[in-house]
Amino acid sequence: MTFYSVLVFVFLVLSAAAAPINNTSNSHSRRHTPIPYRPLNPPLSTPWTEKVGTSPWPQHPRPQLYRETWKSLNGIWTYQSASGQAELNSPPAGLLAQEVLIPSCIESGLSGVMESGVMYMWFATTFDVSSNWTFGQPTILLNFEAVDYEATVFVNGNKAGFHRGGYFRFTLDITEHVKVGSQNDLRVFVFDPTDEPPTYIPHGKQTRYTSHIWYTPCSGIWQSVWLEAVPTNYISGLEVVADMNGDVAATVHTITQTPLPVEMSLVDEGDVVLGIFRATTDKKFSFHVPSAKLWSPDTPKLYKIVVNTQIDAVGSYTGFRTISSRVVKGVQRPVLNGKFVFQFGTLDQGYWPDGIYVPPTVEAMEYDLQLLKSLGMNMVRKHIKVEPHLFYHACDRLGLLVIQDMPSMHPAPSVLSTAPNADQQAEFEREVELLVTQFKGYPCIVTWVIYNEGWGQLTDPYYPEIGITARIRELDPTRLVDATTGWWDHGAGDFSDNHHYADPQCGTPWYSLNSAPYDPARIGFQGEFGGVGHRPEMENLWPIQQAIDTIPQTYELNADLAAFNYRAHVLLAQLRDQVALYGCSGAVWTQTTDVEGEVNGLLTYDRRVVRANATQWRADILALYLAAEARG
Ligand SMILES: *[C@@H]1O[C@H](CO)[C@@H](O)[C@H](O)[C@H]1NC(C)=O
Ligand SMILES: *[C@@H]1O[C@H](CO)[C@@H](O)[C@H](O)[C@H]1NC(C)=O
Ligand SMILES: *[C@@H]1O[C@H](CO)[C@@H](O)[C@H](O)[C@H]1NC(C)=O
Ligand SMILES: *[C@@H]1O[C@H](CO)[C@@H](O)[C@H](O)[C@H]1NC(C)=O
Repeated sequence: MTFYSVLVFVFLVLSAAAAPINNTSNSHSRRHTPIPYRPLNPPLSTPWTEKVGTSPWPQHPRPQLYRETWKSLNGIWTYQSASGQAELNSPPAGLLAQEVLIPSCIESGLSGVMESGVMYMWFATTFDVSSNWTFGQPTILLNFEAVDYEATVFVNGNKAGFHRGGYFRFTLDITEHVKVGSQNDLRVFVFDPTDEPPTYIPHGKQTRYTSHIWYTPCSGIWQSVWLEAVPTNYISGLEVVADMNGDVAATVHTITQTPLPVEMSLVDEGDVVLGIFRATTDKKFSFHVPSAKLWSPDTPKLYKIVVNTQIDAVGSYTGFRTISSRVVKGVQRPVLNGKFVFQFGTLDQGYWPDGIYVPPTVEAMEYDLQLLKSLGMNMVRKHIKVEPHLFYHACDRLGLLVIQDMPSMHPAPSVLSTAPNADQQAEFEREVELLVTQFKGYPCIVTWVIYNEGWGQLTDPYYPEIGITARIRELDPTRLVDATTGWWDHGAGDFSDNHHYADPQCGTPWYSLNSAPYDPARIGFQGEFGGVGHRPEMENLWPIQQAIDTIPQTYELNADLAAFNYRAHVLLAQLRDQVALYGCSGAVWTQTTDVEGEVNGLLTYDRRVVRANATQWRADILALYLAAEARG
């Protein structure tokens, strides 16, 4: 029996037992009661697993473009796997086979499905749009924060839109399909091949063939789904850049691009209005804010923004800061607000044993960031994953610089040497543009990373990272570009970025296998080092045999936590020397948490054991900043 026929069999059995419900017009309809939702025990839980409930992620998901009239569709939907693309021609009607928690990865315990190997799937729910909720606004928008990898959306049986790209937001105007005052049917067909050959798509560390540093994949609607009621010519986007001189450049985009007068107010704490600036929509304008307090990791000062076109109003925020690269006392440096700031933080994968790609709660997500901050780190490298926008909002508030990787594309580990074809490369580059345009409003992000360790990187002499770097600078001239973190450096971007385990080679006159010599014309950086491991107690370990078997592949294993911390101390002292003696401007420690069989986190995968001795780490990290300050 194929998996699909097993499902059909189960439905037939269920439908015999369940009370028949009414007729749906479609041959795929199944008369059954969906299997009710219950969280399935994940292989390993976290302190937040029990707190998820059935209304997850209730927070407004778009902190930089907030409106009053919104409604979350997160919660219990129904789900069933599909046989293939052909089902798009005849969507199943009615309730689907089983209940599922949205948002979630269907592979996760929290989803209630915990199924792997499914590439095609349906999700369904219903929603009401009452006239008292719309407040007379005529246009209804349906927002998806992220669906991995392709989503085809139907509202009341009509195709309402399609989106490709597993990490990005999309908004559909569903006004023509919605019935105000009655129940509406929403169904989403999802296709997510991850790395199934011959697929070659941006998917980061997800794999259908898990092995050590390649982890369980995430499929489905993994970030919030929500509705908004807006005027016909609504504000569709804001671009705001605020710099260290108090200068602000802004564009208020509207959907129809019919010019409207617009007011932008800058608001300080206590709702003190610092200024109201008048302009026209869809045209860049600028203004100056005298004595604006600057944003930095030490002083993460943010200002609220209110934008009003008379017919639409949105809330947002920004921070005043400038990041650049220049020579300071003979060394090329990353410069924040005119000053060399040594950047130190972790490789942050954003994986969770209970939610896979989905942090169980916003508090869980912020717990990791607060731990880094409490150890004195000022940076985090978001590693080949893109997080919900609330992650960047948290980094803005906490004061953590973010190095944002583009999720790598690469085929399954077994065929790792093949390269993307022209179409796959074009899609990768299109998604790089989505990353930059959707996230460039967050002050915390200081660097965009294109390629990690050559994964999916064409190494033919046209070197795609050269063109991609130029394109990113066009879309966002206000940040640095790390074109290749580790491995194949062809001179593109602002960084000369080495990866080396366990000890660093940060701006040093020596280098090893697979790395390029330090190029003093660019910023000397250690994009990865550390990786010091420690096998946790069984109760803190991802108890999947395949993962356990790969523990010895961890870069270095230490017998106990005293040794773990001693080794970290030694490596951080080496790094400090490299800051003092050579061209080292920042470094990324591997990593925030264990992930599956990779057991080298400051925290175990379940976040229940903090391995790092905080006293020692704080002192060792402070010594890095002091060594950098001493150099100027
Ligand atoms: C099915 O439809 C009939 C009439 O068309 C109605 O009386 C009945 O309540 C419906 N059953 C369900 C479960 O909706
Ligand atoms: C069942 O579906 C058929 C085909 O769409 C429709 O004509 C019929 O009225 C439906 N019956 C009920 C009870 O809904
Ligand atoms: C909106 O209308 C619905 C039904 O028409 C009602 O149940 C609900 O209480 C109303 N909400 C508000 C905020 O008035
Ligand atoms: C943590 O490090 C400090 C400073 O090196 C040391 O004095 C202390 O004993 C360590 N704590 C533990 C639990 O090992």
